[in-house]
Amino acid sequence: MFKRVPGTKDIFPTEVSRWQRVEEVSRAIFSLYNYREARTPVIEEAGLFNRSLGESSDIVQKQMFLIRNKEDLYVLRPEGTASLVRAYLENQLDKTLGLVKFYYIGPMFRLERPQKGRLRQFHHIGAEIIGSSCPAADVEIIALADKLLAALGISGQQIVINNLGCSKDRNKLTEILRNRLKDKLSGLCADCRVRFKHNVLRILDCKNQACQEAIAKLDINDNYLCQDCQTHFRKVREGLDNLKIEYQVNPLLVRGLDYYTRTVFEIRHTGLGSQDALGAGGRYDNLVKELGGPDTGALGFALGIERLLLAQGPEPAVQGKGLVYVIALGDEAEKEGMRLLDNLRKNGIASDRDYETKSLKGAMRRANDLHAGYVVIIGEDELKKNAVTLKDMVSGGQKEVKYADLIKEIKC
Ligand code: HAM
Repeated sequence: MFKRVPGTKDIFPTEVSRWQRVEEVSRAIFSLYNYREARTPVIEEAGLFNRSLGESSDIVQKQMFLIRNKEDLYVLRPEGTASLVRAYLENQLDKTLGLVKFYYIGPMFRLERPQKGRLRQFHHIGAEIIGSSCPAADVEIIALADKLLAALGISGQQIVINNLGCSKDRNKLTEILRNRLKDKLSGLCADCRVRFKHNVLRILDCKNQACQEAIAKLDINDNYLCQDCQTHFRKVREGLDNLKIEYQVNPLLVRGLDYYTRTVFEIRHTGLGSQDALGAGGRYDNLVKELGGPDTGALGFALGIERLLLAQGPEPAVQGKGLVYVIALGDEAEKEGMRLLDNLRKNGIASDRDYETKSLKGAMRRANDLHAGYVVIIGEDELKKNAVTLKDMVSGGQKEVKYADLIKEIKC
């Protein structure tokens, strides 16, 4: 028998309804903030991500689902930001719309070692503003993520923010770290010794205890940041304070993707275990230009839907929303049953029928399993009277109802 690919999930109706609620709530919040939905393909040229996320990022190094087709190398998108910027430029939205506020909901793919909260196919709810360098946009993006979580009934999360500065600042920090760490390499983990060569900033948020201790001794402060980047961050913080959004500044938060500049943030939730990020985002002011567009600021975030559902915790079982279950006993009743079912549906009443069960008892059991609100029974006696037996599954009461009165009876 075939099995699903490790790190992917089959999602069945009870769970799908939770997904739909998360999506509906998100769409409503995005609409409040005037974000409109964009949909891009799940397959892109691999080079898009090499260029955007950086050759040395974990995603490009080891997590890309590559698809080779003759000379072309495609990839199942590992994230949505680069795709959206590609689409923005390819469709010349920089020339026609300028500033855009988009959101997206869809699957992403990363070839990771699966564990709780870490999948190979997972889903993002993301938002991006392309075309603004204003600190008020950073405030809006963080406030929007915060509002979304509140609307989804999630609490207990923590927003952590940092200022990575511009590319010159990043280069300065890289140099500071290289100088201060070059004699301490033997005390770092094997991954960080590789990072020292290719992506020294990532040593800052390594989870290994020895690396964290070594970093703590370096006494990194924000003096290396240029005046403009410091002012930008001060305004972001003032904006968040103004909206009473709680956050912590963590100078060691660097994020794993190369495109980030200035403000970065992560939203963590202790209920999630080791994969504790509900979502993350930040500015990527150089990306639009790097992909061939104008020099314009951009920023956004993405929340992982699987992790949102974990943070929401188990939901109480949903009682039947008034499904009407039709049970017809005998060939003649069956024909009438089909007409009644058709009429129920024409009147906008969700209804279903019994197909396989031979006995009334079995059919009633199935109606119970479906959490039906009403059962409509038609047997020989009912047929003679042009009526059905209508059973209210919540109160347990039943009565005879003429065909002509059935819709009215159920609707009231
Ligand atoms: P990211 O931090 O790679 O950022 O992913 C965002 C969120 O997606 C994570 O915080 C987590 O909740 C979820 N996630 C990531 N990988 C997995 C996985 N393997 N399994 C389950 N959930 C996962 C980005 O992707 C950026 N594009 C965010 C962004 C948008 N920055 C600016 N705009």
